Amino acid sequence: MRLTAAESPDFADLALAVQLRGLSYYFGQGDLRKQVLFDIDLDLPTGQIVIMTGPSGSGKTTLLTLIGALRSAYQGSLRVLGQELVGLGDRQRVQIRRNIGFIFQAHNLFESLTAAQNVEMAVELLGDFDTKRAKAVKVLTQLGLADRVSYKPEALSGGQKQRVAIARALVNQPRLILADEPTAALDKKSGRDVVTLMQKLAKEQQRTILMVTHDNRILDVADRIIDLVDGRLESDQSFDSFGQSHDPQSRDRRTLIL
Ligand SMILES: Nc1ncnc2c1ncn2[C@@H]1O[C@H](COP(=O)(O)OP(=O)(O)O)[C@@H](O)[C@H]1O
Ligand SMILES: [Mg+2]
Repeated sequence: MRLTAAESPDFADLALAVQLRGLSYYFGQGDLRKQVLFDIDLDLPTGQIVIMTGPSGSGKTTLLTLIGALRSAYQGSLRVLGQELVGLGDRQRVQIRRNIGFIFQAHNLFESLTAAQNVEMAVELLGDFDTKRAKAVKVLTQLGLADRVSYKPEALSGGQKQRVAIARALVNQPRLILADEPTAALDKKSGRDVVTLMQKLAKEQQRTILMVTHDNRILDVADRIIDLVDGRLESDQSFDSFGQSHDPQSRDRRTLIL
């Protein structure tokens, strides 16, 4: 059975896109076993855009890949789009991933394919060959790349390549979008364009977005900012209160090591 967002009416009225309870995670085995996430509780309501900050090595990418069903969780509870991922088999994790869009810092585009073909590949994963071209062109157009669909990555700017990667993440209309430092390689204007677009999606289409960023120029798009330090959730607050507690005079250096 194929499970896509469109075919699964349950997702539409799911109050929580993500719910973590007591989630811990370890790398390695035996003497080398090292805990990187500690007893994390987190709710991401549908339609929220949540930014995760925290020092390098604090476990942000690990947490994102667990939520994205890219690695298996063993301890605690990890519910994503209504499905418990702890204890889930590989095949079922692949099914869940079809409803999640990933945007990584390194855009991972295929250099030998055009912008449109890179996006079409994501549509093919759902077995949809007839409409892939139209879907790819539509989303690239929404991202301001209508005149670049036939260009290969080498002929695109950094910002344009990142937008192609975003188009690829969004083309199947995933309910949940996970982004790992999506603006890190972008200049100020491109970075702003990218997050403004993601904010629009969250608000207009009830997408849930969890975005890791070190970029304090874009924190204002968040409904909420969570802070992961040494594998523990240290704070969780709205952007307004984050702004107050992080005003320039009393800036907390630890949470804003950016
Ligand atoms: N594949 C891996 N094997 C072993 N340790 C890892 C692996 N990936 C990450 N780690 C370790 O887990 C911790 C968290 O890493 P990561 O999730 O990448 O942090 P962040 O994204 O916040 O920089 C770090 O100590 C890192 O060295
Ligand atoms: Mg990381």
